[in-house]
Amino acid sequence: MLNKSLISINDYSKEECIRVLDLAEEFEKEPVQNLLSGRVVATLFFEPSTRTRLSFESAVSRLGGQIIGFTDSSSSSVQKGESLKDTVCTVANYSDLIVMRHPIEGSARYASEVSKVPVVNAGDGANQHPTQTLLDLYSIRKTQGKLDDLNIFMVGDLKYGRTVHSLLMAMSQFNVNFFFISPDELKMPNEYKLHLDNMGIEYHEQRDFSDIVPEADIIYMTRVQKERFSDPIEYEKTKNAYVLRNDMLENSRKNLKILHPLPRVTEISSDVDSNEKAYYFTQALNGVYTRQAIISLILGLK
Ligand code: CP
Repeated sequence: MLNKSLISINDYSKEECIRVLDLAEEFEKEPVQNLLSGRVVATLFFEPSTRTRLSFESAVSRLGGQIIGFTDSSSSSVQKGESLKDTVCTVANYSDLIVMRHPIEGSARYASEVSKVPVVNAGDGANQHPTQTLLDLYSIRKTQGKLDDLNIFMVGDLKYGRTVHSLLMAMSQFNVNFFFISPDELKMPNEYKLHLDNMGIEYHEQRDFSDIVPEADIIYMTRVQKERFSDPIEYEKTKNAYVLRNDMLENSRKNLKILHPLPRVTEISSDVDSNEKAYYFTQALNGVYTRQAIISLILGLK
């Protein structure tokens, strides 16, 4: 992990993922530690973000480091036609670590190949979002006390959802059952199902899930992402496919937790927010501890 970029969740072994979670637990107990003094972390966000960018920045601040970067590439020299390579090579001169979100799949891997400092992928198109996955694993382990023998429901946009793709890859290292609930247009891509077949992991696919909610340990809701559709008619057809309401949780398991990477639009009704099984805002908080752990391990501070 030391000085290594984190681009895909597959870059970390099962043991390395557990190491991140254990360290995140330590940061949750003691979030303010002066480990990053004199270090600079660059956040390059070519796509909008609230949680990922701000939780990284909060993580760096609580560790005593400095942040540079941009939240909108139109305020950078990309606007003048500068290439991604030149941007990354330049920013690598100014920082110890680059955190980058970009709309193009593979862009983070490319950045890591041209950068002299490690790069952390904060989401590349519909591909991967590995730090989200580590905070999701942290949230699951914290609420369930384990990462195996769980029924994990993934609901919504399973085609373009990078968070579900990364989470599936990570959870496939544990003995879990997946339930994929999506409209036909947004089904989990075959490559991920093939991976589960190869790993001997059970999965079920269906369009509706109201009748099977009592089986769930984790319901991972996702937003249908308007920005990933090339055809607006396809988006309009699927945008309101699922809405989780409080009454649907009546017969659910005691240990059930509702997760969502956020932002949410309409897929979780606001009446769920006050249900003790709603965990998505605490999940976002867990992002700070998890990202403190990731930064510390990459920079060799722990
Ligand atoms: N979960 C997540 O990536 O949220 P943001 O888009 O707000 O960063």
